Amino acid sequence: MKPIGKALCAAGIVAGLLAFFWKDPFNPVSLSGARVLLTGASAGIGEQMAYHYARFGAEIVLTARREAVLQKVRTSLVPHVQTFAMCECASIHPTLNIVPWGLDYLVLNHIGVTHFQMWVGDVEYTRWLMQVNFFSYVALATAALPTLEKNKGSLVVVSSLTGKVPTPFTTSYSATKFALDGFFSSLRHELIMQKRNVSITLCILGLIDTDSALENTRGKVYLTASPAPEAALAIIQGGATRVQEVFYPWWLKHVCCLWVLFPNDGGQVLRSYYNYSGP
Ligand SMILES: NC(=O)c1ccc[n+]([C@@H]2O[C@H](COP(=O)([O-])OP(=O)(O)OC[C@H]3O[C@@H](n4cnc5c(N)ncnc54)[C@H](OP(=O)(O)O)[C@@H]3O)[C@@H](O)[C@H]2O)c1
Repeated sequence: MKPIGKALCAAGIVAGLLAFFWKDPFNPVSLSGARVLLTGASAGIGEQMAYHYARFGAEIVLTARREAVLQKVRTSLVPHVQTFAMCECASIHPTLNIVPWGLDYLVLNHIGVTHFQMWVGDVEYTRWLMQVNFFSYVALATAALPTLEKNKGSLVVVSSLTGKVPTPFTTSYSATKFALDGFFSSLRHELIMQKRNVSITLCILGLIDTDSALENTRGKVYLTASPAPEAALAIIQGGATRVQEVFYPWWLKHVCCLWVLFPNDGGQVLRSYYNYSGP
């Protein structure tokens, strides 16, 4: 056999062995009875996460502002689900008080209304979005940490590719997501240094086919959206297996690496996915 043939055979055998011995680290049974507080659960990815958690037998508390919509999600779930209306600024402390039995997972997913457009100088909007997308996450996580620590629990923070790689039309949104990475990745170091057993999973998502995202990006991007139920499952699996970062779709991890290596050329390629005709 030629050397190339031998190399291919060896690679095939290694791949076969890896496939045989590889075990999916996610065990759905681990979520049975897990106590989950999930924000932004009335629509989109949050709603899909609620369905998955319920299927896995978790005890869930769902939050969002629109109580009636939240109730609709609740009625299609198993009985051990509570809902809680959040105030506009997503202030969290009262939410945590309604979790009488403690907490294993805090899943921070909500966002304020996002304007997918060129920067128009609206500083007040940016301030407000920071409050909803960033400060409320910090407040909720801080309030939940003692109970999460008691239960060796997990903090799951939903972010975006635009929180790793800046993209056009997302100035304020991108800023809030970069802030999440800075805060929660730093906090993760500190928890590890203090030997406090709370995992932090940051979820980096690409374009997902939720109603709000599709409406925002229609005619403005040349990108295909990935399915929300799959994105929701990837987040849940990442949280349950306590990984530091989840990338969905998986290849976003390589996009982030390429961006770090080639920021200038990468920028040109990236802008070619956005539809902007003038000036
Ligand atoms: N979809 C995507 O393409 C995409 C891509 C990357 C990352 N992500 C991330 O994935 C997460 C979910 O996105 P999504 O597309 O599923 O969003 P979505 O469909 O717009 O849902 C947002 C959720 O947040 C709640 N919400 C809205 N305004 C709020 C406020 N002011 N205070 C508190 N809650 C509020 C909404 O319910 P109420 O209106 O009832 O409050 C809803 O349940 C977000 O963190 C987002 O950044 C999404």
